[in-house]
Amino acid sequence: MERENRREKAVAAVAAFYRGFDPKEYLKYNYTPPRADFSRSDSIVPWKLNCLHKAFNEDSIKGDILVDVGSGPTLYQVMSGCEHFNRVILSDFLEVNRNELNKWIKDGESNFDWTPYLQHVCKLEGRSSSEWQVKAARLRSVVTDVFPVNVHDPNPFPPRSLPASGADCLVSSFCLESVSPDISSFTDALCNLSSLLRNGGHLLLIGALGESFYMAAPDVRIPVVPLDEAQVCSSLSASGFDLLQLSVYRLTPDMLVGVDDVKGVFFAKARKP
Ligand SMILES: C[S@@+](CC[C@H](N)C(=O)[O-])C[C@H]1O[C@@H](n2cnc3c(N)ncnc32)[C@H](O)[C@@H]1O
Repeated sequence: MERENRREKAVAAVAAFYRGFDPKEYLKYNYTPPRADFSRSDSIVPWKLNCLHKAFNEDSIKGDILVDVGSGPTLYQVMSGCEHFNRVILSDFLEVNRNELNKWIKDGESNFDWTPYLQHVCKLEGRSSSEWQVKAARLRSVVTDVFPVNVHDPNPFPPRSLPASGADCLVSSFCLESVSPDISSFTDALCNLSSLLRNGGHLLLIGALGESFYMAAPDVRIPVVPLDEAQVCSSLSASGFDLLQLSVYRLTPDMLVGVDDVKGVFFAKARKP
């Protein structure tokens, strides 16, 4: 009981930091050059897009429902997957982020220009970058919902958001380690995610390595669980996933732009048995 109370307090303390999250600043810090320089293969965003592209295209991950957990204000993480699923569900804890996503999906407006991202993913797929509008239309047509989510809840989504059998694939990027107070809470959150996935479904998990904080606005410093590769593997295993692939990207010094202390990025492909 005592332990449960402590855990609840620690989770609530992390949630309190999120009151200051500014989608526009977050996008500027993480999704503009040098971190999103499409002329460089050693830039973070092209590396992530390439991992996702390979998982969906070369490994043939496909199905009916793709769910992205903790989408934030970003769309890059479903730009490959949207071609392989009939339905894509986005989600975030904060209304301000859900509004940002809905602005792009429903009104075609956004604080952020996703065009270079769409062009880059078209090129990865062997299409002309000029087809980016076709991809944008595809993404808008398959995103059916932007749900509230809380990964610390044993039922992270509102009731009846998903079919009882679960989603065919889950994506989650930079969410669990940046909303959990410690490693055991990170592992529990992974267990909660597993409940959203059908047996045999895939989890594509992207996250930060060795990070202790990130800035979510000029004065908002959010604590992060500093993970290493071994902890990612053991948390996946403890939450019942079979790890199929773990790739690691190490940041070059010029990617450290003063908005966090991240050392690397992992991409894990796992399967729920
Ligand atoms: C570091 S951002 C990651 C955003 C995006 N997925 C990306 O790749 O950049 C972490 C996100 O987790 C969301 N979040 C905060 N608390 C959460 C919770 N308890 N459950 C799920 N998501 C949460 C935040 O609103 C934020 O959008």
